[in-house]
Amino acid sequence: NLTTNNHLRHMESMKSLPSGAGKIPELNAVILGESLASEEHDLVFPSHDFSKQALVTSPQKYLEMYKRSIEDPAGFWSDIASQFYWKKKWSQQVYSENLDVTKGNIKIEWFKSGITNICYNCLDKIIESGNGDKVALHWEGNEPDVDDSLTYKQLLEKVCQLANFLKQNGVKKGDTVIIYLPMLMELPITMLACARIGAVHSVVFAGYSSESLFQRIMDCKPKIVVTCNAVKRGKKVLNLKDIVDAALLESSQNGVSVDSCLTYENESAMKKEDTKWQKGRDIWWQDVVPKCSTTCDVEWVDAEDPLFLLYTSGSTGKPKGVLHTTGGYMIYTATTFKYAFDYKDSDIYWCTADCGWITGHSYVTYGPLLNGATVILYEGVPNYPDSGRCWEIVDKYKVTIFYTAPTLVRSLMRDGNEYVTRYSRKSLRVLGSVGEPINPSAWRWFFNVVGDSRCPISDTWWQTETGGFMITPLPGAFPQKPGSATFPFFGVQPVIVDEKGKEIEGECSGYLCVKNSWPGAFRTLYGDHERYETTYFKPFPGYYFSGDGCSRDKNGYHWLTGRVDDVINVSGHRIGTAEVESALVSHPQCAEAAVVGVEHEVKGQGIYAFVTLVEGVPYSEDLRKSLVNVVRTQIGAFAAPDRIHWAPSLPKTRSGKIMRRILRKIASRQLDELGDISTLADPSVVDQLIELADS
Ligand code: PRX
Repeated sequence: NLTTNNHLRHMESMKSLPSGAGKIPELNAVILGESLASEEHDLVFPSHDFSKQALVTSPQKYLEMYKRSIEDPAGFWSDIASQFYWKKKWSQQVYSENLDVTKGNIKIEWFKSGITNICYNCLDKIIESGNGDKVALHWEGNEPDVDDSLTYKQLLEKVCQLANFLKQNGVKKGDTVIIYLPMLMELPITMLACARIGAVHSVVFAGYSSESLFQRIMDCKPKIVVTCNAVKRGKKVLNLKDIVDAALLESSQNGVSVDSCLTYENESAMKKEDTKWQKGRDIWWQDVVPKCSTTCDVEWVDAEDPLFLLYTSGSTGKPKGVLHTTGGYMIYTATTFKYAFDYKDSDIYWCTADCGWITGHSYVTYGPLLNGATVILYEGVPNYPDSGRCWEIVDKYKVTIFYTAPTLVRSLMRDGNEYVTRYSRKSLRVLGSVGEPINPSAWRWFFNVVGDSRCPISDTWWQTETGGFMITPLPGAFPQKPGSATFPFFGVQPVIVDEKGKEIEGECSGYLCVKNSWPGAFRTLYGDHERYETTYFKPFPGYYFSGDGCSRDKNGYHWLTGRVDDVINVSGHRIGTAEVESALVSHPQCAEAAVVGVEHEVKGQGIYAFVTLVEGVPYSEDLRKSLVNVVRTQIGAFAAPDRIHWAPSLPKTRSGKIMRRILRKIASRQLDELGDISTLADPSVVDQLIELADS
């Protein structure tokens, strides 16, 4: 039963909202009790008990806070920022922004000239408040009986030791450190150690290939690379050091040599003696870091000093180095975490994301630790030893907030309810979803089966670029609709625009933009401010363009519809079609490739590649495998195409542009929706492709 109780109480509170609240157009509908009532079957109401204890108890309260955040952003955010530690307070102006390319360079600044340190706020401040003995990290190994934990005090000591080691090895404020680690405690430790000394970390997801790692090393020229020798994920052992070695060799051949490679011995996966070693460059973590002092002075930085770089895919082949700075990001991740998960000191929080992605930055490491939370880190995969592992972990640690991706929900849903119901899960009180739209049936399964119809689901829409949540439910505050990310977070003004960039009001669909800046917004693309402006601010002047489509229903709820650019979202991972295409054409027997996304039952989207071979080369199963393999080695296994479609030629306009619209229809077998093909240079190409569709 989705429409659990408490409906009337909500209807009542909606009717008694202050009249001014109705001035915010997209929220008008929330207050129209009647129209919501008529659609009751679509709505999921929080229970009275939940709302009563929530940080935001009603739609009315949400609207009051939202209204203030929009009408007085400086006041709203500086009140929150004052709760953090600042060595020196920011200047009079809380923020300044120019989001309009016609008015000069795009520039966003928050809390400028404020001096702080995010590591200090994550650790020292929590310890000073008397919570030093609280567990900061519970680490659960790949094998169910292997675990470890660190209190806030212990975590600070580890962070300081590494920070001292980095300093001794010449890492200074503003230097870059690449981190290529799996989900060991050493991953957040390294991030925090960099932050402590003002170094800029760039975590590269440890599923990326050596070629991808090489590209990132070339772009940000790190002083040092931090890795481990190997990791076990399920039954597989992955030799990470070999990947790093190959990347470092290639970069040194291309003029960027990295002095040191700090390597953690992950003993359960591989012994020291089996690890390949380059003397003079490679250093065992365990040999040096534990010898360093457990205290380390903080490097105080400006709020606008860079904190990290995280590479993400765009619509060209070259990954973009998204740059986040310190002060605004700190305030934003902490605040979004607190409200979107209704965080309480007693919570035990588990986010299944890897720190190699933005979710792991903002909501495994910074957001939760800034709130003094106890965080679970899990090294392994969700279905090892079997599909009940997640719920075993939930029961073992009494997890109260569980945050994951729709792809995981769908795959566990497919494996059957018995794996879930075998475990109690009674500690759970809030669930979360991120990475792609969650389809209503997966939402309902998550809600009814995993959460026993008791836990609100925060379906959080945001991006690497936004730093933190942008559109998200606040548990207990208002009713939810399965599949909708609901309403904007405080301070965020989402707008939906048409093709011409005109804002559309009321019920509509179009391109999702944001009207203003918010503290967590990224400030540039590393080394390429022009690309930053062109990609995000030129398409619709005056707005930040997200690259996503969105519709808004008559109640003001937002429904994300997916990317509108050439980016595919596979299992919540962003992959640029151009990156996969350039990997494919690097194969000597591939002449041309065009990649599109197709619907996939578990992954959300799958990668579908149309491939034209070099003249005279015959198609074969071996060649198909070797094409898939070239993508694995160039990008990583997670980007491997699900399907290769042989294409004698590709549908192109007379000017030579590939018509992806047609390819998408062929890939999804919507053959009666091909539309107008008369503008093609050679329309017969389409019939050929259809004939080869199932070969
Ligand atoms: O298309 C949107 C989708 O993921 C994209 C951002 O990907 P990335 O930068 O890798 O960050 C993923 C984690 C924040 C968005 O442009 N997306 C993310 N969350 C949602 C979503 N789509 C719909 N609903 C969501 N909750």
